[in-house]
Amino acid sequence: MLVQFASLLALAASASALALPALVQEGNSLGYLKCTSEGKVIGYVARGLNSLGEYKGVSPDDDTADVSHRMLVSLNQSTSEAQSLLVKNGPDNDYPFLGGIGGEDGSILGVNSGDYLHVGGTRSTAPGAIPSYCGNTYTDRTNELRKCASVIWTYNATTSAVTPQWINDDGTAITAYMGFVDEAFLLTGSMKAFEDTWDASVEWVTLTLDT
Ligand SMILES: *[C@@H]1O[C@H](CO)[C@@H](O)[C@H](O)[C@H]1NC(C)=O
Ligand SMILES: *[C@@H]1O[C@H](CO)[C@@H](O)[C@H](O)[C@H]1NC(C)=O
Repeated sequence: MLVQFASLLALAASASALALPALVQEGNSLGYLKCTSEGKVIGYVARGLNSLGEYKGVSPDDDTADVSHRMLVSLNQSTSEAQSLLVKNGPDNDYPFLGGIGGEDGSILGVNSGDYLHVGGTRSTAPGAIPSYCGNTYTDRTNELRKCASVIWTYNATTSAVTPQWINDDGTAITAYMGFVDEAFLLTGSMKAFEDTWDASVEWVTLTLDT
């Protein structure tokens, strides 16, 4: 495990040698994002993007011991404020952060709304900023202009939980739920409203940092 981790780091380092953001977050911790659903670990967020530019999960059927599939992120464990997560081994250095990207109904989440966001690669946005056309893998792959934001993750040092927190267009913050459906992640403000709206069978996941 240690050997694999070290070689992964070397790979990640050479791949991102030209990307400036790698330097910005020096001193942060590196780890994988473990996905738990209904009390069971179902895998890790994977480093690959699908054809829509959305990050894919590692399904329960995959070999979770195969660390080369896992996304390696850089996270500041010393703050509970919202922060961005730099993907160290992502496939697209133009959009190096794990961010939220507007869905087909826009970029506003609500506690009673089935609206959702994609989870993909984004450029960095400022802490507290409302969604903007920041550049992201979804827009890059589909040519559909979508707003995005990168500073959307809070870290709980007690539980290691990594929780999405979205800032809406009007500046209000909402804690989001993360779902895994059709081999992609999404964020929404209401699990029930999402399922009712889209008639979808969703695996709801929580993330923890695995260092
Ligand atoms: C992590 O967050 C703490 C608290 O906000 C801050 O003092 C520190 O500089 C941050 N570390 C990095 C590497 O950004
Ligand atoms: C971390 O999680 C624990 C358990 O859910 C909770 O009691 C605590 O308030 C959380 N800390 C922060 C900073 O949110």
